[in-house]
Amino acid sequence: MFFKINKFIYLLFVFFICCKRNETSTLSPDANIADGLTPYSVSYPNYFPILNIPYDNRLTAEGVELGRRLYYDTILSNNGKSCSSCHNSQEGFSTFASNSLPHINLGWSTNFLWDGKITGSLEDIMQFEVDVFFNTTISKLNNSTYYKNQFRTVYNVETISSKNVAYALAQFFRVMVSANSLCDKYLQHKANFTTSQLNGLVLFTTEKGDCFHCHSLGLFTDNKFRNNGIDSVFFGVDLGRYNVTSNNNDIGLFKTPTLRNIELTAPYMHDGRFQTLEEVIEHYNSGVRHSSTLDPIMTKPSKIYGLGLTITEKQDLVAFLKTLTDSSFIQNPLLQSP
Ligand code: HEC
Ligand code: HEC
Repeated sequence: MFFKINKFIYLLFVFFICCKRNETSTLSPDANIADGLTPYSVSYPNYFPILNIPYDNRLTAEGVELGRRLYYDTILSNNGKSCSSCHNSQEGFSTFASNSLPHINLGWSTNFLWDGKITGSLEDIMQFEVDVFFNTTISKLNNSTYYKNQFRTVYNVETISSKNVAYALAQFFRVMVSANSLCDKYLQHKANFTTSQLNGLVLFTTEKGDCFHCHSLGLFTDNKFRNNGIDSVFFGVDLGRYNVTSNNNDIGLFKTPTLRNIELTAPYMHDGRFQTLEEVIEHYNSGVRHSSTLDPIMTKPSKIYGLGLTITEKQDLVAFLKTLTDSSFIQNPLLQSP
């Protein structure tokens, strides 16, 4: 009975924060966009934070389209790869073959890569991807009539620079918004949950499962760095955030990843150690390892011996996680290869 009351209160709470209003926020078109370009608005639910768009990279239909071309074009690399080689739309813009991070709602992110090596805006991480990760040969783009024309139209430049390429990619990333999953429809009173999915939501958003402090509702990430207890000794890349800051308090901390489309983005964790969601849940249930930087949320008194979930409760959590799959995002023709 006590649990039932609890459940009721928490659902009220969830509804309160998620359903204040049921419309989407739309960014007003910018009058300063160059003549002839088409202003582009991004829609997203009210339970997302405001999307910041740098003044010098306002979205245009032409800019977004240019970014999409670049994303799918092997011209950016010197080894026949495109961004989409490792960030495949059908796998949530991530890939089964590696522990790559998915490209989902990154317009709301300010820390990029598992250890947060790059901070700032999408323009900053794209500059890194182009200059450092791909080491793009920009002259190849300048030798292409198509790209010369497109960049002239969008950024009014005669010679394409790596900054222009990064900016166009950033425009495309900003429209990669996933906010139409079954969970979103449920929160907006447009669809129902099964009992199992509902129980999973309650576990997720209460102290029992306690996922929501880090995977906050809405974006399903707090955009912070945390140690969720997958290791107790740390070497090399497992040192995580420490490798960027050299601060002992950052040993073993990683960017909290979004859980949107999580069903599609296996394997899981920065090193891809878990193949299934069941394995991930079992980690939180009984596998948490202690260390001096383990997040306090993982060691609340009730959790000393793990979450203590029943088999059904574990299934409920998985059922809930699967409601975060957004097929309209995965299959959106505007995000696919042109
Ligand atoms: C060879 C595979 C591969 C290719 C090709 C690739 N990526 Fe990635 N990407 C990864 C991996 C692996 C990670 C996670 C690495 C890390 O965090 O250290 C990642 C992470 C990212 C992130 C960080 C996401 C986050 O949540 O912080 C962004 C952004 C990104 N890639 C953009 C791109 C862009 C843009 C391109 C094309 C220019 C590209 N990637 C091409 C493998 C790839
Ligand atoms: C203390 C913060 C914290 C809490 C609480 C937490 N997580 Fe996580 N979660 C993380 C971090 C950080 C990672 C990435 C860790 C890594 O890769 O080393 C992660 C990774 C994951 C992943 C894999 C994501 C991917 O793309 O690889 C899933 C799934 C997940 N968590 C689900 C849950 C569930 C379900 C709960 C509740 C039972 C939960 N988390 C509780 C911080 C947290």
